[in-house]
Amino acid sequence: MFTASVLAGSKPEQYAQLLEQARGLLHGERDRIANAANLSALVYHALPDLNWVGFYFFDGTELVVGPFQGLPACVRIPLDKGVCGAAARTRTTQRIDDVNAFPGHIACDSASRSELVVPLSLGDALLGVFDLDSPLPARFDVEDQRGLEAIAQAFLEACA
Ligand code: SME
Repeated sequence: MFTASVLAGSKPEQYAQLLEQARGLLHGERDRIANAANLSALVYHALPDLNWVGFYFFDGTELVVGPFQGLPACVRIPLDKGVCGAAARTRTTQRIDDVNAFPGHIACDSASRSELVVPLSLGDALLGVFDLDSPLPARFDVEDQRGLEAIAQAFLEACA
């Protein structure tokens, strides 16, 4: 049974603990669906003020929803749409303080106010994105970005 220990200390310290928990879940497993499912659950329950955490995978044409925690979400996202599409297209993390000010934002859950989307690339190949939504404006700062990018990297290394 997995027992999540409560995160403690400064935000970087908490992300270091969360990364260790993530590595523990990923250890010895390459299946990307299994790993995405467990990481979504881990992060959703470990971090405060989130209403959606999950993965979209690139099918060669568009992003298709994968394992997640939160309300049911849009199934397919073209690369020229939304925050997820922007992260996938530009291969750069999108940290959006106010989703309502982002042109083309796709409101899967009307409660979402801010969003962080980390692109997932294996070499030149786009695997998908790791997406987190919050009901609070400006929920994600640069420390959250770094911490969640490190977790996304651990996911990529496990699946490679
Ligand atoms: N808001 C995202 C769509 C995915 S949901 O947030 C789960 C976007 O604009 O790409």
